[in-house]
Amino acid sequence: MSKTNNRKNEHVSLSEKFYPEGDSSFKDISFIHHSLPECDVKDISLDVTLDDLHFSSPFFINAMSGGSKWTGKVNEKLALIARETDLAIATGSVSAALKDPTVSESFQIVRKTNPHGLVFANLGAGHGLENAKRAVDLLNADALQIHLNAPQEIVMPEGDREFSQWITNIQSIVEDLQIPVIVKEVGFGMSRETVQLLETLGVSLIDISGKGGTNFAQIENFRRKEFKLDDFESWGQSTVVSLLEAQESISQASLIASGGIRRPMEIVKALALGASISGLSSQIMHMALSDLDEAILSLNHWKEEIKRIMTLLGARTVDDLRKTDVLITGQSAEWCDARNID
Ligand code: FNR
Repeated sequence: MSKTNNRKNEHVSLSEKFYPEGDSSFKDISFIHHSLPECDVKDISLDVTLDDLHFSSPFFINAMSGGSKWTGKVNEKLALIARETDLAIATGSVSAALKDPTVSESFQIVRKTNPHGLVFANLGAGHGLENAKRAVDLLNADALQIHLNAPQEIVMPEGDREFSQWITNIQSIVEDLQIPVIVKEVGFGMSRETVQLLETLGVSLIDISGKGGTNFAQIENFRRKEFKLDDFESWGQSTVVSLLEAQESISQASLIASGGIRRPMEIVKALALGASISGLSSQIMHMALSDLDEAILSLNHWKEEIKRIMTLLGARTVDDLRKTDVLITGQSAEWCDARNID
């Protein structure tokens, strides 16, 4: 088995090993209960539109799998879930398939299994426009995710050490690609400065993917045979803090939340903090690997649960959730004070 194949398998098995570790920042967020909701459950719409993308639910399956035989099988399960729940789905980084076409099938299985659903391709920011187009073609993708994962690369024994080209790559892809481009973190969160910079590059969809769930510094550190880099494991901003940072600085772009989102209540909290949609990775991976039928049942039920939460909050639409009253406490409140975020 090639090194890349092995790494892809290890990422999935280690995310399962560490599940559900992580310190959820959503405990710092409380909704303030008001006793007269002024709407009915039947009035609630879960629809979300971002650029040309129409979602029937305010959550989706974020990038994870592909690049080896086993992760292709995992992708098939995830794609089945996506099809049966009408959730959008992103594959893991397709860079392995661009280098070695024999693993293309492990990604294309997602489109084959889910021919009519929303499918996103995924690639690192080290790739330029040509590879971006190849990634999209590989899956007939509806959008491309470009991931920013500098801390992961730094801790990864075989990781990249060169990042200076990233801004130029992002800019050229955003300018020329004919489909929506999402720029995302991978669980280290974003600062308001990053969000501002991405906006100046023309990025209109930003997934702040914060700390609190899958921790790639921990996963890569575990894979190191020697010279462990323990201090990197606490690197980054939580999902809540990243959303608050982003909300402070964003002007045109739409926000996507991910990182440690595991429950309907956390999906709704992320939306109330300014996200248009929430992405879930390790939680859905865990459900897919446990019991596929149960995963489909549960995720369909989550939609009903989200509607009920929205009813209690008097929010008929996902946009309305931004007007709900939330209380921010704990470390998230301390961070806001220190960074002068209102
Ligand atoms: C990921 N993630 C990821 N992200 C990305 O942009 N490209 C990728 O190839 C991968 N690969 C990957 C593999 C596995 C096994 C996991 C669990 C995750 C990161 C993912 O999309 C997300 O940003 C983080 O995992 C945080 O979300 P959760 O897992 O805390 O919900």
